[in-house]
Amino acid sequence: MTVLSDPLELPCGVVLPNRLVRAAMTESIADRRHDPSERHDRLYREAAAGGPGLVITGNVMVDRAHLERARNVVVDGETDPAALQRWAAAASGVPTIVQLSHPGRQETRYVNPHPVGPSTGPAVALGGAYARPRALAAYEIAELQRRFVDAGVRLVGAGFAGVEVHAAHGYLLSSFLDPATNRRTDAHGGSLENRARFLLGIVTTMRRALPPHAAVVVKLDARDDDELVTLGRWLQDAGVDLLEVSGGNYEAPAMVGLDASGAELAGEHESPFWNSAAALAGAVDVPVVLTGGFRTRAEVDRALDAGVCAAVGVGRPLAVRPDLAGRFVRGETDDLDRPAPRLGGPAPVRKLLGAAVGAGWHRIQLARTADGRGPLLGLPALAAGVDYSVGDWTRSLVERPGRMRRAARERAARH
Ligand SMILES: Cc1cc2nc3c(=O)[nH]c(=O)nc-3n(C[C@H](O)[C@H](O)[C@H](O)COP(=O)(O)O)c2cc1C
Repeated sequence: MTVLSDPLELPCGVVLPNRLVRAAMTESIADRRHDPSERHDRLYREAAAGGPGLVITGNVMVDRAHLERARNVVVDGETDPAALQRWAAAASGVPTIVQLSHPGRQETRYVNPHPVGPSTGPAVALGGAYARPRALAAYEIAELQRRFVDAGVRLVGAGFAGVEVHAAHGYLLSSFLDPATNRRTDAHGGSLENRARFLLGIVTTMRRALPPHAAVVVKLDARDDDELVTLGRWLQDAGVDLLEVSGGNYEAPAMVGLDASGAELAGEHESPFWNSAAALAGAVDVPVVLTGGFRTRAEVDRALDAGVCAAVGVGRPLAVRPDLAGRFVRGETDDLDRPAPRLGGPAPVRKLLGAAVGAGWHRIQLARTADGRGPLLGLPALAAGVDYSVGDWTRSLVERPGRMRRAARERAARH
């Protein structure tokens, strides 16, 4: 029987001191050059000191022309290696891995009015903030593949325990896997083998490029269980150390427990991805992390005991109280409480702002920890949602010219 306080050794040899994984949460606190700042150092020192078995950072971008939001960290040829080393050292209390991503079509027009994806159009249908993506050319896919691997090498070289490739939540790699957004007719579209070519290329090359002791982790969507199992087996053969299961995208944010109308998902289990994780865990030998929705000890114990997953991923509760991880693992509390506000109002408002309110409220709590302050539990829901959307769009627009100049310089240096 597996219990939460059991250590977990990954195939690469990294040992997680327990089975509670602090899930990736975007911070949006990089400096103006998109380097990690002292705020990252403090946030991740606190996250590690909180006592989870593994920490996954918020998404870090591999191409500074394309961000998930303003002030994401970018890791490329322009990144200050000393800043990465400081960050890795600050986070070294428990194994910490950096999540690497490219936003794909889920990039606002304020970040970049020319988003890219597997196929041309349609734009993300949320408040007019997104433009129609254009299809990436094959040479651009190859170039992005190199960027992911290159970023992984820089991060492990700086001292991180490994990287997580973000192939979930509707971002670029997820949208290549999903036939609803990937309508290509070349070697990257059609069969699952073709749709997975981009991701598998990254993982295979990453595994070869990184030292054997570095962890290579992939976050996947619970979209189609048969495809998830097949993909999981291929990724296992490609040498991954851990597979994380989540799901949803901007238009249907299941990862934060909401459906396409902004209503709360209801189900038999706290996690909406329980059955998919169980299917995957039953089919692969590499450990599976199930992330999303866990709030009670009974449900966490059930998942570990039944072999639904080898570890549980927890996000929002730890954004508010990083020390909750250790207290939960040690049995000092049975609740991963989530003192987050809910957004009322008419359905169109909930659809537009529901996920932004939840994520925005928690992002501000992360930023407070990064500034050495405690949580602000009275933070109004609407203010957080507006900061996460309109506030982010404004920051993205103001900072775009400088960022694009740096992106062009970095591109020129590459070629
Ligand atoms: C503020 C915030 C930021 C997030 N950023 C990311 C991210 O950068 N990468 C990612 O894979 N998931 C991200 N997520 C999703 C979480 O990793 C996790 O899947 C989700 O919060 C569900 O877990 P929970 O119910 O324990 O919070 C974010 C969630 C929140 C609330």
